[in-house]
Amino acid sequence: MAKPTLSMEPTGWFQVAWSHEVAIGDVRTMKYFGRELVAWRSASGAVSVFDAYCEHLGAHLGYGGRVDGENIVCPFHGWEWNREGRNVCVPYERHPNRGRRIRSYPTVERNEAIWMWHDIDGRAPYFDVPDIFADFDDDKTAADYYPPFPDGTLYRQGLELHPQYIMENGVDFAHFTYVHKTPFVPEFTRQDFGGPVSYVDFTVAFDDTPRDEINSGVEAINGGLGAAVTKSWGMVDNRTLSAVTPVDDSTSDVRFTVWIGRKPGDDRPHMTEYAKTMASFVIEQFEADIHIWAHQRYSDPPALSGKEFEGFRALRAWAAQFYPASKGGGR
Ligand code: FES
Ligand SMILES: [Fe+2]
Repeated sequence: MAKPTLSMEPTGWFQVAWSHEVAIGDVRTMKYFGRELVAWRSASGAVSVFDAYCEHLGAHLGYGGRVDGENIVCPFHGWEWNREGRNVCVPYERHPNRGRRIRSYPTVERNEAIWMWHDIDGRAPYFDVPDIFADFDDDKTAADYYPPFPDGTLYRQGLELHPQYIMENGVDFAHFTYVHKTPFVPEFTRQDFGGPVSYVDFTVAFDDTPRDEINSGVEAINGGLGAAVTKSWGMVDNRTLSAVTPVDDSTSDVRFTVWIGRKPGDDRPHMTEYAKTMASFVIEQFEADIHIWAHQRYSDPPALSGKEFEGFRALRAWAAQFYPASKGGGR
């Protein structure tokens, strides 16, 4: 039996690729939410995510489909489809089939990542993918960080874990001393679950700073269940983007991207040895979490301690909004 008991069809934005993986003219095959999909980039640079099958006779666009200008051309009989998925050309007829449309998904490109909107009820996006630079309260931009590729990334496919696990990690103070070996548990200064985008801030130290001298922490913004961005302060300047995207009813792909703050005056266009070392420390921490998540079973109702209760209650009440009732969700 599939391990997660939570719906693997949550509503929200989910990362399906890094931007550089879909160059202009590329048609990339992928599978998410139990569907065969393609992501393709037009001549003008716009990325689209489509159901993979041509509406004519069902060829898979990922196997021989090609990009022509702003359209994708099916390999089987040459029908052309525009970025909205509408048929714009049947090469051997005078008119296109105007009624037919390949399902396309709202797509956003942000922070070097490609995001698709998934909602089983077909609703339009009603919140944004968090921006790892613009959404934090400072004026840092990508230029203040080393580019994260390739050594600042982690990609794990087909893990038996649910996106909600990662979000619960944000209110789970007790795991820090065990999984991340911090000397003290973090102290939460903000847990705001008022909307589909939630905010969690806490103070924490990963070294042996005495408890009453800890002057560092993490701010996290969660855009639904699929996207979490963090900013550190008072320690090595890093920002992280974690994204969990359901593949089918039991597995997810996990992508993690780490930006390390530039040393003053260093404008090299690639990761330095220093940045690689720092990024690998951050990635190690995330891998320690994955090691738990990938084998965890969702516990409901969980046996929470008194101190844990409020954080988990708020987090799970917040998460419930992303499981549409039409699929037996809304728990
Ligand atoms: S199946 Fe795509 S054009 Fe015929
Ligand atoms: Fe963790």
